[in-house]
Amino acid sequence: MHVFETPAACRAYALAARAAGRRIALVPTMGNLHEGHRSLIRIARARADEVVVSVFVNPIQFGPNEDYAAYPRTWADDLAACEEEGATAVFHPTVEAMYPEGKPTTYVTETAISPFLCGASRPGHFNGVCTVVTKLFMAALPDVAVFGEKDFQQLAIVRRMVRDLDIPVEIVAAPISREADGLARSSRNRFLPEGMRPQALSLRHALLAAKAAWDGGERDAQALEKILRDTVAREAPDGVIDYARVSDAETLVPLTGAIVRPALAALAVKVGPPRLIDNILLGR
Ligand code: PAJ
Repeated sequence: MHVFETPAACRAYALAARAAGRRIALVPTMGNLHEGHRSLIRIARARADEVVVSVFVNPIQFGPNEDYAAYPRTWADDLAACEEEGATAVFHPTVEAMYPEGKPTTYVTETAISPFLCGASRPGHFNGVCTVVTKLFMAALPDVAVFGEKDFQQLAIVRRMVRDLDIPVEIVAAPISREADGLARSSRNRFLPEGMRPQALSLRHALLAAKAAWDGGERDAQALEKILRDTVAREAPDGVIDYARVSDAETLVPLTGAIVRPALAALAVKVGPPRLIDNILLGR
């Protein structure tokens, strides 16, 4: 397994692989790899000859009051996980290698999907994501890139970005990987105080309650959102809801009234230190 520390080194490898007719898959991550990331690597492996996993905690997607400094960095374990899952290369640049001139002055900005949900409470976050994903694409030159539905809005924005900019990368979605009790796997779960785990599960329970109501014929967006909010309020008395929203599954525009197209129920709740997110599709 190769390890590259600069975009130029990664690109040289990608160009050679392409010249040899080999298909490249990219799995962008910020490291601290768990079973969710591993499932993405396995999907990538099934779709390409070369699998590049990028491990880079991207400073420009964190807000000034967010957890950039505290974000878990577990390089030795990440390297072992990539090896175990059969990645052929890991791209692990330093901040200086990615941003040699400091904060970039050119950003990729998605404007239609980004304003809602996480974008509303994390201004600039998705500009940082789109910019680094574009840079990772330029380094790894992938034919296909795998993103998790855990970050459904990120996936929707990246899909829109590649359409808007004619970026020749196929975007593949991976289902949400969960712990046995249903909690969506996340690098931030480690900051969950042990006693608060039952409250963290309120996100999953709320989404399942909304899905059950949907399957029972409920189509009113506000009624479904009330189920989300009420379930979290009941099961997570210490939780602080950032959003509890039913949105159009493609545009992520918040819905009101009767729903006639596939929808996404999505939650962001602060449970102790970590802000947890989860979602479920309605009508897929
Ligand atoms: P990170 O949070 O490390 O996630 C990397 C990828 O793993 C994302 O596509 C995310 O959706 C996916 N993922 C995380 N937890 C998952 C789970 N429980 N089930 C399925 N997929 C899961 O997302 C980022 O990093 C960054 O924003 C990045 C795209 C790398 C740009 O910096």
